[in-house]
Amino acid sequence: MEINSLVRENIKKLKPYTSARQGYLSGILLDANENSFGSVVESNLQLNRYPDPNQNILRDKLSNYLKIKKENLFVGVGSDEIIDLLVRIFCEPRIDNVIITEPTYGMYKVACDISNVAAKTVPLNNEFQLDINSIKNSVDENTKLVFCCSPNNPTGNLLYKKNILETAKSINGLLIVDEAYVDFIESGSSIDLINEQNNIIVMRTFSKAWGLAGIRAGYCIADKSIIDYLFKIKSPYNLNKMTSDIILSALDNIQKKNYFIEQINQQKELLINQLKKNKYVDKIFPSDANFVLVKFKNGKYLYDELVKKGIILRDRSGQLNLQNCIRITIGNEEENNILIKELERFNEENIY
Ligand SMILES: Cc1ncc(COP(=O)(O)O)c(C=O)c1O
Repeated sequence: MEINSLVRENIKKLKPYTSARQGYLSGILLDANENSFGSVVESNLQLNRYPDPNQNILRDKLSNYLKIKKENLFVGVGSDEIIDLLVRIFCEPRIDNVIITEPTYGMYKVACDISNVAAKTVPLNNEFQLDINSIKNSVDENTKLVFCCSPNNPTGNLLYKKNILETAKSINGLLIVDEAYVDFIESGSSIDLINEQNNIIVMRTFSKAWGLAGIRAGYCIADKSIIDYLFKIKSPYNLNKMTSDIILSALDNIQKKNYFIEQINQQKELLINQLKKNKYVDKIFPSDANFVLVKFKNGKYLYDELVKKGIILRDRSGQLNLQNCIRITIGNEEENNILIKELERFNEENIY
């Protein structure tokens, strides 16, 4: 696909800001109006200096870990930044549109709404899989992006890869596959599809399995031309030095991430087994993520009662086809035991 033809004219013409640190990261740096005396906070990160706008050291290491080329990698302030940047690169406000496969993560629509870009909903099918025909029918000449999420939030299921590929082939825009939760399953990533279809973008985050939601870091893997546009429009120093430094440390500690995944998956199984015994549970949806979507007899009531006990779940009953559904993040053993106890109490006391 000719990626350039999808880009907004003003972005193509844009002369990007050239930052001082673009060219030189060391030497006698009198080019950026930094504080040459140092920083009020002691650190070995040289916090008085702006970070590398090209994210070079970080992208070298992360691309190595992902076994991809550095030129295909962009790191953002969470995947949320990348969602917003993609909408702004490709979608002309009030003219172009985006397809969102619902029910799914809410930020795709919010990013469109902020940019005044129409977001068209195409429901996932009964199994929460991509409905390729509906997507094909909804696409028009102004459809620039299709967002899907695999494993999907909040339903928890992985999308069939063959459907992802077929969808990408059938559209004249970009297909974004949000893999925020992909670490929780052993296989099924769409990363390799990027070599087959240059209109697929895979997005990931350090906020889930890596346990680094607080540092705000997500990344995407895509055709070089897309990565170049992301660099062109991002704010010059989007990724701060502390965040980069923590990611570098995280990449030296992959076994800890794997340990977390093991623990979370174990706890998930225990929780699901308990939920199966609860008579107020209508349905437990299969989960490939670190959460499970559960349909209760009276979701709203259960949600409110648990809030009173200080247990906060995510009420998803307002989303398309998710009446009475609550999303439960898998907690640690102690948290899960408290939750299970409370759910058992409801069960026994016939509170509903
Ligand atoms: C599907 C999905 N994508 C992206 C994000 C946000 O990721 P980040 O923290 O990297 O912005 C979330 C967070 O809940 C999510 O569920």
